[in-house]
Amino acid sequence: MTLRNDVVNFAMETEANPYLMGGYAPVHTEITADDLVVIGEIPRDLNGVYVRNGPNPQYQPMGRYHWFDGDGMLHAVHIHDGKVTYRNRWVRTEGYEREAHAGAPIWTGIIEPLTANPRRAPLKDTANTDVVYHNQKLLALWYLSGDPYAVDPITLETLGKETFDGKRPGHVSAHAKVDERTGELIYFDYGPRPPYMTYGVVGPNGQLKHFVPIDLPGARMPHDMAITEHYSILLDLPLIADPSAAREGRHKIVFRRDLPSRFGVIPRYGEANTIRWFEGTPCYMYHTVNAWEDGDEVVLDTCRVAKPAPPDTAVGRLEKMLAYLRLDAQIYRYRFNLRTGQTREERLDDANTEFPTMNTRCLGLQTRYAYNVHISPEKTLLFDGILKYDTQQGTSRAHWFGPHRYGSESPFAPRPHAQTEDDGYLLSFVYDAREDRSELLILNAREISDEPLARVLIPQRVPIGFHACWVPEERLPQPSA
Ligand SMILES: [Fe+2]
Repeated sequence: MTLRNDVVNFAMETEANPYLMGGYAPVHTEITADDLVVIGEIPRDLNGVYVRNGPNPQYQPMGRYHWFDGDGMLHAVHIHDGKVTYRNRWVRTEGYEREAHAGAPIWTGIIEPLTANPRRAPLKDTANTDVVYHNQKLLALWYLSGDPYAVDPITLETLGKETFDGKRPGHVSAHAKVDERTGELIYFDYGPRPPYMTYGVVGPNGQLKHFVPIDLPGARMPHDMAITEHYSILLDLPLIADPSAAREGRHKIVFRRDLPSRFGVIPRYGEANTIRWFEGTPCYMYHTVNAWEDGDEVVLDTCRVAKPAPPDTAVGRLEKMLAYLRLDAQIYRYRFNLRTGQTREERLDDANTEFPTMNTRCLGLQTRYAYNVHISPEKTLLFDGILKYDTQQGTSRAHWFGPHRYGSESPFAPRPHAQTEDDGYLLSFVYDAREDRSELLILNAREISDEPLARVLIPQRVPIGFHACWVPEERLPQPSA
């Protein structure tokens, strides 16, 4: 029986990694294409750039591949006056450039032992996870906390590592937050050594203006954070790096269901000793929706994974990866009472949804709507629709992509002079598995269940990927007069 399992796992791990096939397979050509075919009509008041990050290995991976390993590639559509230009470009990270120069892969990924990788960089920082817009540049960010790579928002040319005016003290994790009202970038960094986390605020001009250590009880794997108008919320969740595996040079995470989830509420410019920790049910959170202040309370809407560990039946590293990536998350509302120290947790819906977006103009202020992708029951992570949550009414409405069609994280693009929070559009790259091609979908966010306003055919497949953002035209660098 053991032999049979070994044979099955060997075949799976060497030949049939689903995250290298079909909609996940990398593309090898960087293209620029304009005047794309549009089915429907692009709203004339939708002008800007939708850009999405994701893994796209430059070379056939050495050893077993994890979906998180691939080199970051940005896919962008630039919409102006009803016309669309599509571009895809790799992020020219240090690791990408070293492998390109060698003409071969140098790093193995997180499933393999890291001992054979370059000693000073045991994992390749791929900048493949999120993309945010700050100080007139895109920043490509990495989930294990890495160097932020600055990218031109129009050409997608990599400009180099963002240094915060030469003052960046460490790395930046994937989900930095941009407060569009103040122009600040708020972020955290985490790592294997005390204090295990740091927290920083960068001003609108790109200069670091606040930076403090955050003492955690041990090494953690935080992925996201949240901001309100005056506070930031940092996460200490009991999904942790296995210390014994780390000592052996392996990357392994374990869910410690005997530890509480902890939420650190710190004033935006607070010193380390001003953080207030709130405890809650053991769980994991990949992504928060939004947070705000409500009297004595700080409110957090977030996607919560109740059981982040793979089932005990998962055998082999790749099967464990598949199990980990089969997300099962629900939208929750947390209330942290700054007066009493109490935490209240409330599930808002049962549906399995994640990769939330919202109207980022309201980030940190009370919001009513969240736009989460719905997780398909397929064995790999795929999004088969978008749910628009109305958290005030406690209702949701859906847009389903259709059979064998899978979308991307779908940022909200506000209409100019919008009167309501949901007055705008949602954008998503959709992959059609039967036709093996991709398109851009533009939805009316107010009437999400309606037929798309426009479908734009992309002349090259856009591999399934991670996070995205929308940059309105008026925030893009303006051509000099
Ligand atoms: Fe993420």
